[in-house]
Amino acid sequence: MLSGKRVVLGVTGSIACYKALDLASKLTQAGALVDTIMTRGATQFVTPLAFRSLTHRPVVTDAFDADSEYAVEHVELARQAEVIVVAPATVHTIAKLAMGMADDPLTTTVVASRAPLMVAPAMDADMFEHPATQENLGRLRQRGAVIAGPGQGRLASGLTGWGRLLETPELLGYIAHTLGRNGDLSGRTVVVSAGGTAEPIDPVRVITNHSSGKMGYAVAEAARDRGARVVLVSAAKGLPNPPLVEVVPVSTAQQMCDAVLARTEEADALIMAAAVADYRPLTTADQKIKKSDDDLSIQLAKTVDILATARGDFVRVGFAAESENLVANAAAKVTSKSLDLIAANDITSEGSGFGTDTNRVTLIDRDMNVEELPLLTKYEVGNRILDRVARLFRD
Ligand code: PMT
Repeated sequence: MLSGKRVVLGVTGSIACYKALDLASKLTQAGALVDTIMTRGATQFVTPLAFRSLTHRPVVTDAFDADSEYAVEHVELARQAEVIVVAPATVHTIAKLAMGMADDPLTTTVVASRAPLMVAPAMDADMFEHPATQENLGRLRQRGAVIAGPGQGRLASGLTGWGRLLETPELLGYIAHTLGRNGDLSGRTVVVSAGGTAEPIDPVRVITNHSSGKMGYAVAEAARDRGARVVLVSAAKGLPNPPLVEVVPVSTAQQMCDAVLARTEEADALIMAAAVADYRPLTTADQKIKKSDDDLSIQLAKTVDILATARGDFVRVGFAAESENLVANAAAKVTSKSLDLIAANDITSEGSGFGTDTNRVTLIDRDMNVEELPLLTKYEVGNRILDRVARLFRD
């Protein structure tokens, strides 16, 4: 998503400047071309050299720099920018941006640019809560800017409250969303399921599987980054919520079914990446089952088939985790669940399936056309599936 993108990173005078260094580094590692503009205040906290060393690009600190590589700096950067990110954004810079002022290289570039703007506030809680700050943020939001955060927690002042600059992974999520806001899925609602359901045997034990949720989360992020409103029905444990994705936590197959049915009423597509239990204990013991000398049998009952049940005027995509006869088994599910598309997942292949960051899938559509994809990151697999979903929307 970020590869090759021109990002103007505006850094203003806050102690959170040290986090902007990490952001600049991660953006560069993701393949973005990062042009940093620092306000005078920012240079009091960290040096331009630090940003130049991380981004390998010049850093602008002075609107009247005679040695600049750009003829008219603010116009040039403003024109080239695909997104402008102000992180950290102080109360002062937020006020100037809201007023449309242009008295330093950063605010001048913002005013001169048509690129989408993302503002990540960082300040003390009282400053954030001040009516003027809230009004200014509201004004920026109204003009289309994306406001990222702030987060809550311990502030540099020692107080606790709202005002922390978001952490780098969250900021990266916001930037990807800001870049892709008008993408080919904008105006669409996509419901995604993720993780392995857990069916309780007693208050201590569950029947579950190896799904980490990574595949479903990657699909959700990819859909968000193409402009979709995303609802993620998640049975995953321990994965951070993706920014700007509505997460509905569930545990059992029945809970996942209830959530999916409720949310698909407003959906344009349902993508079921979750590994849903096919069977659950017929009864759940109220108390922990005690060990005895005998073997123990647990009677299992079939769970509801969510994909087969969720019908409506939306695109329906399934996954099939298979350990043999990949295409034949997955193709049978396209028919039995009446799907538009299935991603057949060979869980025996290296780097593929449960818990990995990569996946190898074969796409099979309702006309039984088969497309074998190479080993890709799960995010890229998500995008390949979404290419097909977007095509189905167009058709
Ligand atoms: O989460 P990760 O660690 O990243 O791993 C990813 C994954 C391997 C879990 C994922 O890529 C995957 O293959 N998910 C589907 C696994 C699966 O359970 O397949 P299935 O063949 O049992 O089910 C077929 C489809 O029906 C799936 O879309 C499933 O969500 C759905 N289903 C299954 C059972 C059920 N009761 N209701 C359903 O809707």
